[in-house]
Amino acid sequence: MLERVILIGFMCSGKSTVGRLLAERLGWEFVDFDDEIERAGGLSITRIFRDQGEEAFRRLEARLTRRLTRRRHVVLAPGGGWVTQPDLVELLRPGSLIVWLRASAETIQRRHLEQGVERPLLAVEEPLAEIRRLLAERESYYSAAGAIVDTDELDPLGVVTEITERLRAARRDRPRGRPLTSG
Ligand code: S3P
Repeated sequence: MLERVILIGFMCSGKSTVGRLLAERLGWEFVDFDDEIERAGGLSITRIFRDQGEEAFRRLEARLTRRLTRRRHVVLAPGGGWVTQPDLVELLRPGSLIVWLRASAETIQRRHLEQGVERPLLAVEEPLAEIRRLLAERESYYSAAGAIVDTDELDPLGVVTEITERLRAARRDRPRGRPLTSG
């Protein structure tokens, strides 16, 4: 049975907003990785990157992932770079529908400016060039998703509707998928 949805995708692709709405629609729990990591350590993501570096942050993502393997009926929104540790993705894949919320570099840049939320990796002189570079670097990781939703032309509720349709289709295709705990 599919008992988890994992939203992957670049920064500002809408994972947190969509995740919250989707969890509400499904009556499931929602876990935002960055929020959870900030709460657990009492430090903002920006501080963790600044004081301890990206590698330390990736270790915190790994620790949180391992803690989530037994959680069911949950929508997960890991940060945009979580997929660069493929072992973590595989750890959660059994029982999960993994959805890539795809967005163009231009859409990401626009949302980043609109949101005004600090992203340490985009605090550079030329954010658009950096978005393009990182997107190209990560594309193959995001492609490991079981479903792709193009979000450029959709609002968050439109994305939620797309995902619930994919979930229904995936359940129809594999009514007796591997149970969550067997992974
Ligand atoms: C990151 C994405 C961020 C956050 C951190 C690193 C990345 O999360 O985890 O700044 O490597 O893409 P969002 O995707 O929620 O912005």
